[in-house]
Amino acid sequence: MSKTYTITAALPYTNGPIHIGHLSGVYIPADIYARFLRITGNDVIYICGSDEHGVPITIKAKNENKTPQEIVDRYHKNIKESFEEFGISFDNYSRTSEKIHHKTASDFFLKLYNNGSFKEITSEQYYDKEENQFLPDRFLIGTCPKCGFEESYGDQCEKCGTSHNSSDLINPKSSITGNVPSLKSTKHWFLKLDSFQEFLKKWILEENKNFWKPNVYGQCKSWLDDGLKPRAVTRDLDWGVPVPINEAIGKVLYVWFDAPIGYISSTIEWAKKNNKSWEKYWKDEKTELVHFIGKDNIVFHCIIFPSMLKAHGDYILPKNVPANEFLNLEGSKISTSKNWAVWLPDYLKDFPEKQDVLRYVLTINAPENKDNDFTWKDFQNRNNGELVAILGNFINRVVVLTKKYYDSVIPNPNELNDVDNEVIVSVYESVKKIENLVSQFKFRDACAEFINIARFGNKYLADEEPWKIIKVDPERVKTILFVGLHISSILSIVSEPFLPFTSKKIKFILNSHDHSSKWTWENLVNDKFLITEGVTINEPELLFTRIEDSEIEYQIDKLKNNN
Ligand code: 2FM
Ligand code: ZN
Repeated sequence: MSKTYTITAALPYTNGPIHIGHLSGVYIPADIYARFLRITGNDVIYICGSDEHGVPITIKAKNENKTPQEIVDRYHKNIKESFEEFGISFDNYSRTSEKIHHKTASDFFLKLYNNGSFKEITSEQYYDKEENQFLPDRFLIGTCPKCGFEESYGDQCEKCGTSHNSSDLINPKSSITGNVPSLKSTKHWFLKLDSFQEFLKKWILEENKNFWKPNVYGQCKSWLDDGLKPRAVTRDLDWGVPVPINEAIGKVLYVWFDAPIGYISSTIEWAKKNNKSWEKYWKDEKTELVHFIGKDNIVFHCIIFPSMLKAHGDYILPKNVPANEFLNLEGSKISTSKNWAVWLPDYLKDFPEKQDVLRYVLTINAPENKDNDFTWKDFQNRNNGELVAILGNFINRVVVLTKKYYDSVIPNPNELNDVDNEVIVSVYESVKKIENLVSQFKFRDACAEFINIARFGNKYLADEEPWKIIKVDPERVKTILFVGLHISSILSIVSEPFLPFTSKKIKFILNSHDHSSKWTWENLVNDKFLITEGVTINEPELLFTRIEDSEIEYQIDKLKNNN
């Protein structure tokens, strides 16, 4: 039955390009989910945009002697292009510096301000006298109270992932000047998170326990066990959404207050552009809201944003937050500062046209339940051993033989025998498994099952050997190739969420539009063929090509020499 889904992917900070860790943790899984739900007949919006506020952007601007606006303009363009190039199928990609976002975030704040969701607290905050500014979030560095990491930020420790208050840091220093900060009094607005403790306990620890991922549930439980405290949602900064009340002139909303509202403003922007209503996607209890994020964003999406939505009162809460763990690279943590990363624009320069190869490797090896490692050797092996040797090889053999024996016209099959029926049943079982796995956010297993379909096809051809019997039993060969083309047509549809570029190519080769049935997932049912005898298909075209050792050595050298 068709449902409505609002799928969000974490808004990336606009202070650098996107790397493979971002793609594997957030944007590819969300894209697979969105594409799958669309082609199975649901009403889906897949929403994202650039997170353009926050201290990381101000710091980057300071370091480069640029304005924050110049920084976000540069990277917004760069990031948006990368997403497009890798087939990430957002319905809307907005930016939090847009007017519509400032208005949505300000209105949201005002609603909470007026309904008593905030507590005003005046306290002493760290201040850098030399720079004449307060030191919120990443402007402060010190020792993490939880793990002892000496370079923890004021708001979050990158080593252990804990999110804390600046006042919790041990030996704090200004990240701008390195000075030991002084204290200065300032007033801020705090969301009364403590008043949502009981609600969140029931909603997460009881109602969602069995269907949220264990890593997500575990982090939420630990927050709730520690007891929630009021949390500041304003900052003494000049880059961000201005706090829309007179008493707060010169202050902005905390980036983690405004960024998730960016999902809503991006939806409103999409609705305006497309002359649609946005409210159904955020206010209808039947709509399923799903947030795709990395593990460092769990508390914000499972505890803080739901409390904001609940405090507001008009919005639905997320149905699921399938957060992933982290992807490492060649055994070490991906690090922007150490340039230990594979940046998407660089990848595309070296491997033009190989977007699906990266999509495939990042999916089959995604950090779904634990941190995982990307290695260039594995990338090569998966390309050569799976995409080239299994998927590409199967489609190519079927199409080449159809050309050779029938001048590319799909033959009339004779009655199917047990072997034919068995392979077809196995393929349908795989399709069903994929449906179940994707619905449970198990994209690695789903992708492996998709490749299994091509494996079945290869085994079928190898067992039936049409090339050996073409002379003695040409009628049988017609049936074998018809079955092979049938499996190829299924692959062209099932591949779409995982390998959208390849899916398009297979559909083109098979001339998907010239057949009597519509090539949709819904039409993939046991007793139906999508292909029609008599239709002429296109020329064979290699879907994947081998990656040589020298190309891999080059990548490994490049990575090592960057450091
Ligand atoms: O961690 C990050 O990259 C944040 N910019 C994610 C924001 S997600 C959402 F709330 F917008
Ligand atoms: Zn820590």
